[in-house]
Amino acid sequence: MTTTATPAPTSGLEPRSFHLRVYGCQMNFYDGELIRASFIRRGWTEADSPERAQAVLFHTCSVRENAEERVHGLLGDLRRRKRSDPGVVVGVIGCMADREGEELFAREPHVDVVCGSRHFPSLPDFVERVIGGEERVLALGNSEERVDEVVRDLGGRAAGHSAHVAVMRGCDLNCTYCVVPRVRGRAESRPAREILDEIRRLVDDGVTEVQLLGQTIDAWGRDLPPEERDGLAGLMDAVEAIDGLERIRLITLHPSYVTPALTGALARSRKFLRLLPIPMQSGSDQVLRAMKRGYNAEMYRRRVALLRDAMPDLELVSDWIVGFPGETEDDFAATERAMEEHGFLQSFVFQYSPRPGTSAFERLPDDVPAATKKERNHRLLALQHAIARGRTPRMVGSESAMMLEERRDDQWFGRIHNGHAALLSHREGWRAGLSRLVALEAWNGRELLARELTPEAPIPPARLSATPPVIALALTPAIPAVPASGFAV
Ligand code: SAH
Ligand code: SF4
Ligand code: F3S
Repeated sequence: MTTTATPAPTSGLEPRSFHLRVYGCQMNFYDGELIRASFIRRGWTEADSPERAQAVLFHTCSVRENAEERVHGLLGDLRRRKRSDPGVVVGVIGCMADREGEELFAREPHVDVVCGSRHFPSLPDFVERVIGGEERVLALGNSEERVDEVVRDLGGRAAGHSAHVAVMRGCDLNCTYCVVPRVRGRAESRPAREILDEIRRLVDDGVTEVQLLGQTIDAWGRDLPPEERDGLAGLMDAVEAIDGLERIRLITLHPSYVTPALTGALARSRKFLRLLPIPMQSGSDQVLRAMKRGYNAEMYRRRVALLRDAMPDLELVSDWIVGFPGETEDDFAATERAMEEHGFLQSFVFQYSPRPGTSAFERLPDDVPAATKKERNHRLLALQHAIARGRTPRMVGSESAMMLEERRDDQWFGRIHNGHAALLSHREGWRAGLSRLVALEAWNGRELLARELTPEAPIPPARLSATPPVIALALTPAIPAVPASGFAV
């Protein structure tokens, strides 16, 4: 056990203050809350800016090269600061730490701590060891300790009605382009009782929406003992039964794990947000094979049919990689056709980025020119935009539950049960996270215009004063590889 070492006094440093910057996907933002809690528990305070913080920490992403380069740029900016203020501790945490490992010290000699994704619970120890005089700390790969505590400390969570909950870590698939299994390790599901307990405590804290996170969330439970192995279907039923919780989001499904049992659980849930991230990546069988995604276009079609037969109002979200090695104009045209066929409501489009250590990097030449990748990226986003504009107006004339998310003057912005954006006039006593029954009367070109159906219905008492959270969809890095991703919430 490390003691709370006193820092060597240096110019302008706020002792025991940390500044944490988080990049990457929602899982990283969830981890950021855990990291924040672990420092606060040890008596540290969070600094809004890096200028006077004693520890400057980057929680990083490796999924594409530009995500890493951005952090290297910021680390470069800190070099001068470290020279004038040697007491500042610089830490690189997460996927980039796991991918670059010790090489990070060579490239960024002013970095003190390199801490992989499975070691961040010990991060305050590592930082305090450096303050205590240790030159450097490196912790990578598997860890003896679990990343998720049995009872999560909610102290690092930003206030708000919507909360992330990681239900599993890692990934057991091996898509040829992807670093995630390498940096995050094998799939490890959290036991149901821990997840349910965490959600109950969040609800007691005023949360009305949970976003359950996993790289292949529909594989949840496969690694657990047999009594827990009724999978995500069983977990959904149990989460559904939590009183006070209004909405459940799932991020992200893999088509291979979609089963009739899971489809049934989603269809009978009244809380499941029928806006499902189920990335297709490409519409071309040739490309899907080279990606080793484990399905072809026809199998994807069958999974979508299973889901939509049970939930005709289901909306889908996809990620796409354009410019994968060998992708021809014909392959790309198949992607465009698939996007149209399935009528996605939102898409995240990424230009292929070769990642060292992946099998695509080792074996497949990055042969699509950068200009072609960019052009396909724009074409696909333009198509997605047109598709989405065609889908939202179809909701006019229907009724739905709408969750209030953000006050905009005398109106509320929110989402209806299948993810379409809507506006509703404000009423006294309303707050973010509240659900109202609405009729959708018109579409203004962006949002549906809603009218409350039961204005006399009582407003349930608030469990806390919620401030609007940042909401993001799909287990997709928040820093897009391209400026676009304009359809992400
Ligand atoms: N587990 C999720 C995706 C996680 S990574 C799934 O399987 O769908 C988020 C997205 O980043 C991926 O869906 C993919 O579209 C994109 N991505 C991953 N590796 C990439 C690479 N090397 N180049 C470009 N995009 C990549
Ligand atoms: Fe796993 Fe998703 Fe990466 Fe494939 S793309 S290896 S499913 S994290
Ligand atoms: Fe890691 Fe998430 Fe990026 S798992 S590599 S931070 S997409």
